[in-house]
Formats: sequence, C-alpha cells, structure tokens
Amino acid sequence: MKISIIGTGYVGLVTGACFADLGYEVCCADVSSEKVNLLQSGVMPFFEPGLGDIVQRTLKSKNLFFTSDANIPASFADVIFVCVGTPQDITGKPDLSYLEEYFLNLIKTLHENEDFIKNSDAKKHVFIKSTIPPGTIKHLNSIISNNSLRDKIVLSSNPEFLKEGSAVQDFMRPDRVVVGSDNQESIKIAAELYRSILWKSERMLVTSPESSEIIKYAANSFLAMKISFINQIARLSDAVGGDIHEIRKGIGMDERINPHFLYAGLGYGGSCFPKDVNGLEFVMQSNNLSSELITATNSVNDSQVRYFLEKILHLYSPEELQKKEIAFWGLAFKPNTDDIRESVAIKLLRLLAPIVKHIHAYEPIAIKNAMTELVEIKNISYVESSLDAIKNSHFLVIATEYSQFWNMSPEHFMQLKDKCIFDGRNILDKDKIESMGIQYFGVGR
Ligand code: UDX
Repeated sequence: MKISIIGTGYVGLVTGACFADLGYEVCCADVSSEKVNLLQSGVMPFFEPGLGDIVQRTLKSKNLFFTSDANIPASFADVIFVCVGTPQDITGKPDLSYLEEYFLNLIKTLHENEDFIKNSDAKKHVFIKSTIPPGTIKHLNSIISNNSLRDKIVLSSNPEFLKEGSAVQDFMRPDRVVVGSDNQESIKIAAELYRSILWKSERMLVTSPESSEIIKYAANSFLAMKISFINQIARLSDAVGGDIHEIRKGIGMDERINPHFLYAGLGYGGSCFPKDVNGLEFVMQSNNLSSELITATNSVNDSQVRYFLEKILHLYSPEELQKKEIAFWGLAFKPNTDDIRESVAIKLLRLLAPIVKHIHAYEPIAIKNAMTELVEIKNISYVESSLDAIKNSHFLVIATEYSQFWNMSPEHFMQLKDKCIFDGRNILDKDKIESMGIQYFGVGR
C-alpha cells in the first residue's frame, strides 16, 4: 500500500519512517524545502533514538522519500496521514490554520485532477494524526462539503500516542490504535496498515470521530492530572515529613490507580501536555462547560517550579545566593530528547540565573537548542560533563532525570562546596547522600 504523510515533525516523521520500515511505500511531505532536502539526504531535524537509522534504511530501500511539492502527496497515494502542527495561539486556543490550509490545498489539487473527479470510485482516505480539538473533523467535513468533495475525501481520526525519547518503540508496539471513523472502507484500511504491529487484535479500537478526538485530549490531560495530583500530594508529604516514593508505591499498588505517571518533581513540560491541557480547557469552556479539574491541573503545574525554587530560597538568603556558583543538570523537558519546548528545567534556570552568581550547566542531548534558547543569560557556562558542573559549584540542582545522573557515584558530591543538592526529579538515594553529611532536598521527601 502507498501512504502519504503530511508534516515531518515528531509524529509525521516517526509515522512515515515506521510505516516505510514495515514495508509500505511512503511519501513524506513538508512545506520546508530546506528540511526536506536534509531529510532526503538522511539528516535528522531532531534527535529521537533509533529514528535516524530507520530513515536512512528506508531511504536506501526506496520505501521512503520526501517532498516539499504540495501536489505530490495526493497524486502518490489514496491513503493520507495528516500530521501538521496544531500549536496553541496566545490565548491558549488550538490554532488550526496549518490544518485548514492543508485541506484547502488538497481540495484545490483534487479539483484540478479531472480523472479523479470523474471517477466515481476514486477517494482519498485521510487520517488525522495531529492532536485536534473535538469537533474539528465535523468542521473540516463542512469545508469539504462546501467544496463539493464530500464523497471524495473520507476523514477519520487516528490520534498518535507516542512519547518523545521512545517514539519508535511506541509506534511499533502501541498500547492501542484508536481509529475514529464512520467509514467501513477507512476502518478496513487502518486495520490492514496496523495489522503487523497490533500483536493483539483487540488493541485496535474503532470509535466515532468525536470520541477519538476526545480520547487523545483526555488521555494526555489525565496523565498530566496524575502528575499534578502527585505533585500536590508531595507538598503535603514535605509539610508533614512523608516520603513521596513510599506514597507513590502505596497508592500505585492499587491496580485501579497504578504507579505510572506518579513521579513527583518539577512538573510536566514538552510539546504536548501543556498544550493539550490548555486545549481541553478551551474546548470545555467553548461548550459552556466548567473545567475545574483541568484548570487545577494547569495551575498546580504552573506553580511547581516556584514551589521548588522556594526550597532554595528557604536555605539561602538573597545576599548569600548572589555569591553562589551552582551546578545545573539537565535542560531538556525530559531525558533522551533534544526538545526543550515548555521545559520546566529551562523555566527554573531562568528564575535562578538573576539571583545566583554563576550557573555551570550540563545537558547531554539538548545542549544546542538550550544554548540558543538561553542566549540572553550571561552568567552561565555550558560544561562537557556532569562532573565538570560540580567541580566549582556550591550546590547542585537536578532538573531532568537522565540515567547518567541517577547512577553518579555519590562520592563526587563531596566536591560541592556547600555539600548540598536540590533534586527536582527525586532521582538520588536520599538516605545514602544524607549519611555522607550532604544536605538533600527533593520533592515530597
Ligand atoms: C506525552 C504522552 O505521554 C504521549 O502519550 C503523547 O502522545 C504526547 O505527550 P511526551 O510529551 O513525549 O509524551 O512526554 P512524557 O513522557 O509523557 O512526559 C511529559 C512530561 O511529564 C515530562 O516533562 C516529564 O518529565 C513529566 N513527567 C512524566 C513527570 O513529571 N512525572 C511523571 O510521572 C511522568
């Protein structure tokens, strides 16, 4: 089967490359000809473990090619996955302009193709993978109908649930594939496409388009809500002297709750959770529904970095802090990605920079993006290793949970002039560190 993918961001590129690796012929399109040229020569626009190898392999086998010609995807394949960005505008509202622009262009291209218009059997099965506010498919269908292509473009929702850092694995071994469609032919196509990766057939869930749209928003918001919930409980744990690791285990052993996404820390960032929680809040409100839980999820997250910063301000006076050089580990929004969008590590660093003397920052993967983002900060140096960061510093702040930080041998922390660590991701062994005479501040511990 031939497939066209529109948009080569995280979702589009992973989808295209993985489908090509599964043996389909795939055309990946992007409006940026510069990006397309790099991709066509095997150069990745972002870091994602394993993805570069797949792109290079499938380019070589000719199962994959890239184009910036907007007309090619529709002529190449009858099955199209739309993976364009749906960012939020300044009010938090999802911005659907890229999506609408794509559909207006598709409509124009199809109208120009006389054979396609005349052939009553010819159809384009379009699956939307972009995260879209519930109601979007209905809205796009009305644009399609107004342009007399109602029977020629069949729209379905097929949300993507992959996580950055493990995107290839998430695509190849999904928990579930959700297909929101009213069209039997589209459902059959999706079942066929995903057949080889759905190792258990019941993992494909067919729903209405509206349910599928809501599933994606609700799944991300629910996970974000779990994180905000545990962060709020961590504050209680701090107040009364509990340990959030024990609490997480204790509540997570209840299968109805489960222990996943219950790690307290600096809060969530990235390109999805903040945007999708805002998007759901917007959609609830525009349907005249209250959104207390979702609003609270956001506001707990928004205050979590400040809550953590207060721990530092509690230990040091402003005058003392101005004399401190600090080690800062991790700038990406999570490990194993070069993505710094909405990174809480970056937010914390921006709050610390004006009040400390100097920051020795170490970031293993996202360093280039972080340096560009933080260009206005002058009292920072970017060091080559986590140990280099510690060497000349008074205390350490951990902001992203890279495995190499978990496994650092604690003796190295003795080099910190103040023998003090603020662990924003709760990854170090508190008891061991304290037994060495080092002060340890985690979240909820
Ligand atoms: C998320 C969803 O997990 C994925 O299904 C969806 O398709 C896209 O959004 P992603 O943004 O890649 O994926 O990252 P994820 O691993 O979910 O982490 C998001 C943020 O939450 C990170 O900042 C992470 O540090 C934080 N987090 C995660 C916690 O603070 N605690 C946890 O227990 C889990």
